[in-house]
Amino acid sequence: GIASVAFVLLTYLVAAFPFGLAVAKASCGVDPRLAGSRNTGATNVARLCGTRYGVLTLALDLLKGLLPVLVARAMGGGAVFLTFVVVAAVVGHMYSVFLYGKGGKGVATTIGVFLGAAPVAALLSVAACVLVIWATGFVSAGSLMLAVCLPVLLFWLGPCALTYAALIVAVLVIAKHRENISRLVAGQEKSWRKGR
Ligand code: G3P
Repeated sequence: GIASVAFVLLTYLVAAFPFGLAVAKASCGVDPRLAGSRNTGATNVARLCGTRYGVLTLALDLLKGLLPVLVARAMGGGAVFLTFVVVAAVVGHMYSVFLYGKGGKGVATTIGVFLGAAPVAALLSVAACVLVIWATGFVSAGSLMLAVCLPVLLFWLGPCALTYAALIVAVLVIAKHRENISRLVAGQEKSWRKGR
């Protein structure tokens, strides 16, 4: 009904708020769109302003996804409604109306929405992501692992009905990482271990 449509739009607007930009400007006075990887996400905020502000950005961008999904579940929404809310949150973060259609790469918000919608698959995907970051030193490689693991784990462990949501999110996250993928292939991606 109309309440569901309104809630999906509200989710988009909430998720469009660029916490990474706000945290970076407030903490170290840097515009993350103009420095480092030029991304507004937690990784670049950590790179530019320090780990603690990266962690803060990760937490806030994660909550932007988690809270709408928890409310949607409390509203008694089914898989189709949840799919719309999940995609609205990730799209809001990636293509923000407040940033003229630009935005982050969606990883923290993706973790948030799936922690709310499918915690087991989400936690296993985060574990795979952390393992890849630890093994390779590349946050982007871990992010891509997370994006690929989610639909596979949802299809395998359930809830199966959320596999579509995870597939859409995976395509979006991978598309946003195309520059990272080029750098990984060329051996030019920045390790988080370097420069410390
Ligand atoms: O989630 C973003 C991460 O995967 C890569 O960030 O700043 O290294 O492009 P960045």
